Amino acid sequence: MLSEIDHVAIAVNDLEAAIAFYKNAFGVEVEHREVIVSDLVEEAMIKVGTSYIQLLSPTAPESPVSKFLEKRGEGLHHVGYRVPDCQEALERVKGEGYPVIDQLPRPGSRGTTVAFIHPKGAMGTLIELVQP
Ligand code: CO
Repeated sequence: MLSEIDHVAIAVNDLEAAIAFYKNAFGVEVEHREVIVSDLVEEAMIKVGTSYIQLLSPTAPESPVSKFLEKRGEGLHHVGYRVPDCQEALERVKGEGYPVIDQLPRPGSRGTTVAFIHPKGAMGTLIELVQP
């Protein structure tokens, strides 16, 4: 059901500084950049094999990522697992009685379909199901 790690998301205060770190430290470049208006975030995706590092910064004070940064500072925000069928994967999680953030799959960045699973039922890790 989980085919690959789609991305590891890191919340950052300064997207340009984070991109510069990855470029300077590892010589890697951003492959895709997108403002996700509905989530009030901007992402910069750096390819690692078939997966990505997703650098994530808020675009508004009321963004959930703003609140995360205020509370916990920069760092690991969520892990995205690639799934062949987001709806099917989400239904299974719900059917097992685990709390979810998204009751239904919704559009994500890069034309994906996504759904978030609540960290409180998942050992403190925010999980995103990502259907390419
Ligand atoms: Co994500």
